[in-house]
Formats: sequence, structure tokens, C-alpha cells
Amino acid sequence: MSSDNKIITAELAGVTKIFSRSGNDVVALNNVTFKTVTGEMVLLLGPSGSGKTTLLTLLAGLQQPTLGDVFIFGKRVQDYRQAELQKIRASRMGFIFQTFCLLDSLRVIDNVTLVMKFAGILPGKAKENAVDCLERFGVGHLKNEFPGKLSQGEKQRVAVARAIAGGASLILADEPTGSLPTEQGMAIIEFLHKSVKSDGISVTIASHDERISKYADRIVHLRDGILS
Ligand SMILES: Nc1ncnc2c1ncn2[C@@H]1O[C@H](COP(=O)(O)OP(=O)(O)O)[C@@H](O)[C@H]1O
Ligand SMILES: [Mg+2]
Repeated sequence: MSSDNKIITAELAGVTKIFSRSGNDVVALNNVTFKTVTGEMVLLLGPSGSGKTTLLTLLAGLQQPTLGDVFIFGKRVQDYRQAELQKIRASRMGFIFQTFCLLDSLRVIDNVTLVMKFAGILPGKAKENAVDCLERFGVGHLKNEFPGKLSQGEKQRVAVARAIAGGASLILADEPTGSLPTEQGMAIIEFLHKSVKSDGISVTIASHDERISKYADRIVHLRDGILS
């Protein structure tokens, strides 16, 4: 994808998010402006409690800002109907979590095809996409195993395949290397970075892990809810 047809997949414009806890206000994000575009991997670097997860959930439209606007694929979050947003989440967004969140009762292949079914992709096509992606991430031979039989590194590869197999262009990863040894963690980031370039997807990685920095196209810092 050339630089001039980059698409803004999600955007926060002057977003403040305040939670109330035991009668006190907690300012999780303070006037944050951020955008994520196709063909770019952004690292959102910040210590625990700095607001990283809150920022990702706002980009996913999973919660509403207290102040400011959130745009997902060019449209204000409030202007989506709930069902429409759910459909977009299934078909155009991919999520990668620290704990992988694979379903232990489903084989690897079915973990990867599940969300594609919600997105309305036909079963044959979903399976084809899943196998392609699992092979790309070096875990194609494990497709009929249950997640409980996989190593942490293999599980993470499956989780990344699941996030991108359905053709999502807005990928959000929350501490994706947190439960992996350095080498495996960095291999996953390298794989993701290749997909950013070859498939023109947008990836936002929230982490406190500075080792990811060298793979990022852009690094932003979050501290006490303030982005810089
Ligand atoms: N649902 C919530 N209710 C109250 N406070 C919250 C909630 N979610 C997050 N917070 C607070 O907001 C701040 C940022 O949290 P979070 O976004 O989870 O940070 P990070 O992911 O960087 O660790 C923290 O002080 C956290 O305790
Ligand atoms: Mg977090």
C-alpha cells in the first residue's frame, strides 16, 4: 500500500476518560489525540496504570469517552447503532491479549474461524483463511490440536493468526508479549510488523516493554493519562 492511500482506521480527538471509584474521579485519559492508520505499527508505551487499556477499549468502541470524540472507520462512535458496531468489531477489528484468550474446548482451527463466522464469512472460506494464516505464523501443523497442548509461544501465534485471518484492518494488541520469553515475544512482533507492511493493516500495541520499540513505525508515550 502506498503512503498516499493510508486510511485512518480509528481516532481519538481530545478524549478525556474519567472513571468514578468510591466517590473519587480517576482521570484515566486526559485530552488525548491519537490516530492509527493502515500500513503503520504504533507502540503505545507506558507503565502500568497509565491508561493503555482504556485507550485501546475506546479505539474499539467498547466504552464511550467522557469528553471528546472517538471515530472508528471515519464515523463517530455515537453515530453507530450497537449492532453495526458489533458487526464491525467482528469483521474489521482484531484483538490480541496478553493471556491470548483462546477457547480451550475448541481446536486451534475452530478458535481462528469462530470470529469469522460472526463476521458472516462462509465456513469454507473461513477455514481457508484460517489455514493460510496459521501456516504464515508457523503453526499450521497444529490446527487440529486443542490449545491446552500448545506452548505459550504457539498459543500467541494462534492468537495473532486469529486477529488477522478475517481480513481485519484495525488490530489492537494489549501487552501481547507479556507472557512470553523475550525471543518468542519479539518473533511475534516481527511477524505482525510484516503483516502491517504486506497487508496494509493498522496495528496499535500497548505495552511497557521497550524492546518492542525497534519494530514500531511510531512510538507514543502515555503517562498518567497524558499522551506525548
Ligand atoms: N473500569 C474502571 N473503573 C475505575 N477505574 C478504572 C477502570 N478502568 C481503569 N481504571 C483506572 O484508570 C487508570 C488507567 O487504567 P488502564 O487503562 O487499565 O491502564 P494500563 O492499561 O496502562 O495499566 C488506572 O488508574 C485504573 O485504575
Ligand atoms: Mg492494561
